[in-house]
Amino acid sequence: MKKSALQTARASYQPKLPEAIKNGVTIVEGKATQSVADQEAIAKLFPNTYGMPVLRFEAAPKKEYPAINVGVILSGGQAPGGHNVISGLFDGLKAMNKDSRLFGFLLGPGGLIDHKYMELTADIIDDYRNTGGFDIIGSGRTKLETKEQFDSGLEIIKELGIKAVVIIGGDDSNTNACVLAEYYKQIGAGVQVIGCPKTIDGDLKNEMIECSFGFDTACKVYSEVIGNIQRDCNSAKKYWHFIKLMGRSASHIALECALQTQPNICLISEEVEAKQMTLDDIVNYIADIVAARAAKGFNFGTVLIPEGLIEFIPAMKRLIAELNDFLAKNGAEFAMIKKSEQRNYIIKHLSPENSTIYASLPEGVARQLTLDRDPHGNVQVSLIETEKLLGEMVGRRLAEMKEAGKYVGKFATQYHFFGYEGRCADPSNFDADYCYSLGYTASLLVGEGRTGYMSSVRNTTKPASEWIAGGVPVTMMMNMERRHGEMKPVIQKALVHLDGAPFKYFAAHRDEWAMNTCYVYPGPIQYFGPTEVCDQPTKTLMLEQNGSID
Ligand code: FBP
Repeated sequence: MKKSALQTARASYQPKLPEAIKNGVTIVEGKATQSVADQEAIAKLFPNTYGMPVLRFEAAPKKEYPAINVGVILSGGQAPGGHNVISGLFDGLKAMNKDSRLFGFLLGPGGLIDHKYMELTADIIDDYRNTGGFDIIGSGRTKLETKEQFDSGLEIIKELGIKAVVIIGGDDSNTNACVLAEYYKQIGAGVQVIGCPKTIDGDLKNEMIECSFGFDTACKVYSEVIGNIQRDCNSAKKYWHFIKLMGRSASHIALECALQTQPNICLISEEVEAKQMTLDDIVNYIADIVAARAAKGFNFGTVLIPEGLIEFIPAMKRLIAELNDFLAKNGAEFAMIKKSEQRNYIIKHLSPENSTIYASLPEGVARQLTLDRDPHGNVQVSLIETEKLLGEMVGRRLAEMKEAGKYVGKFATQYHFFGYEGRCADPSNFDADYCYSLGYTASLLVGEGRTGYMSSVRNTTKPASEWIAGGVPVTMMMNMERRHGEMKPVIQKALVHLDGAPFKYFAAHRDEWAMNTCYVYPGPIQYFGPTEVCDQPTKTLMLEQNGSID
């Protein structure tokens, strides 16, 4: 592998660990836990892993551990820092016993089922320290959920003499990790399963998991480019930039980027839903700000749009649901119709309410709603170009306002979507340290014989030496939700809380950011230099943990 200059320099960075786990440890057990909701149902589904205590590691004299073999899996979308979780896990296992071995299952959970693996040796690990990406073993989205899959995995686990599997993934992957832990415990397989909280989306967090790894770096990458765009925008003063940001359902990424860059507008899907806003309400909200800025002579600005917005607009949600059902039944007939007539065909067949909304959508978006479907027959909302939808609709609204004498100005747009650009960036110092600590903590949970736990590192707005490392029973984070028509135990997804400090801070400042030009230009992530430049956690984390960022 040819390395860039930064990669070479960065390879020697030694990630920081909490002081308490640097040498020997002892476990302090908290009280028995219960799930966040639906306690009875979840206790019944997880008789062997429900109710376990929260664990905290404290420093203690070093002790002997037997050598063990461990497997590791990267699951789902890439997130900066995955390689450091694996290097922390590797170093932790070797510190406990130099003869322990680590095997990586290839391309996600599918590698376990299909028996595709590689041994991760010191040389391989050294090549990937502090780098972005998941390419050391690859990732995948295969869902681990059936007994056949678990049994097939067990065959290779036994063949390799593996005693524990560490699954690095988001809410769904960790839910599956817990189901796997429960199953292996129930059948007495002698295999532990430990999870690690990953996702740039930032929606795997709760009282005990302060953030998922990758969120910090990804938001800093997006904020850098948003800042660059804002500076361009403020220089030429001629464009409105509509910027869609990844994040699936939750708006954490959009909110964090807004806190870092102070754009003129940032939409928050959770607020749109809470206020039952229509697409027209959103368009009017943006158009009014464009018009008010134009009245001050500012014919430019920035709008941040969370990826999942469309699903949170109640009327759009109903339209998408009807389209899903309609096309599931009439897909074949629809496919036979001439492209130029498909739009009218849909308009004719939908209920009056949905038909009106559908007819009001720009041509391109209307087509995306009918054509881009996933294997389950659902419209893939992330492929819908919401930024263009809003930009075009705002343009139309402004033309009407101009006609009515309510707007004088120019409106020219530029569109962007930031997502993949941030998922494999070299981890920030925060993510490099946090991920390494999560991996190292996972090795300790393995060494201490625990299963059904997620590695947890808290107190993360303090210096790394003061971080608190331990384990949280995965069942503690679960509730029952309807999935594919059935009630299933799943880790509760964390959406943006409208009464939380990050949203409140944003809401208190957004009017000023809308009317005045208060852009902040964060610049690129810095890996070497003063701590106030290199080691800051996200604004979201600081507001959540400390209540302030000013
Ligand atoms: P995870 O939840 O698996 O971490 O994925 C995050 C994410 O980047 C979402 O923000 C985005 O909607 C999705 O993955 C894109 O998926 P894919 O990589 O399959 O295109």
